[in-house]
Amino acid sequence: MTAARIGILTVSDRASRGEYEDRGGPAIRSCLDEIVSSPWEAVARIVSDDRAGIEAALVELCGECGLVVTTGGTGPAPRDVTPEATEAVCDKLLDGFGELMRAVSLKSVPTAILSRQIAGVRGSSLIVNLPGKPAAVRECLLAVFPAIPYCLDLIGGPYITTHEAVVRAFRPKSA
Ligand code: MTE
Repeated sequence: MTAARIGILTVSDRASRGEYEDRGGPAIRSCLDEIVSSPWEAVARIVSDDRAGIEAALVELCGECGLVVTTGGTGPAPRDVTPEATEAVCDKLLDGFGELMRAVSLKSVPTAILSRQIAGVRGSSLIVNLPGKPAAVRECLLAVFPAIPYCLDLIGGPYITTHEAVVRAFRPKSA
């Protein structure tokens, strides 16, 4: 089985300038290590909160990865433009991802509603936005991951399996 490539994109002005240690990207990587049981390898990038740069990184990562997970830049501040960049490069949006992630996060923090995180499909790749905080990364990824393997099947992405004790992937029986 060839290793599925998973893109990890950290969007942060300070982390991209090296003023701040990237904590979101490593949080995604360790969470995926816990969840994904089939072979996979990370393709990690860090970009600033610049819409054109985020779009270019997403296009590049979707060229080599079936799943691309972003962290940061989803809030209401002027420089937060990750959802706009994601929407611009996607063929289709999957609104249920954002709805579920906000609903789950709201149980932990009232500011969950400040995240405009979205998900969508570009060609045969799925892009999922997560907030910047490592705790939010884990909470959101665990919430939506049960639907990700089947979504990848439907869009022609890589076949991935999960550690059932962590995340039970749902594939309909008829599939
Ligand atoms: N979701 C979870 N699960 N946990 C959190 O701490 N922080 C919120 C929200 N979602 C948070 C969360 C806050 S304070 C903000 S501003 C938004 O995510 C956007 O974060 P971002 O701009 O780093 O993407």
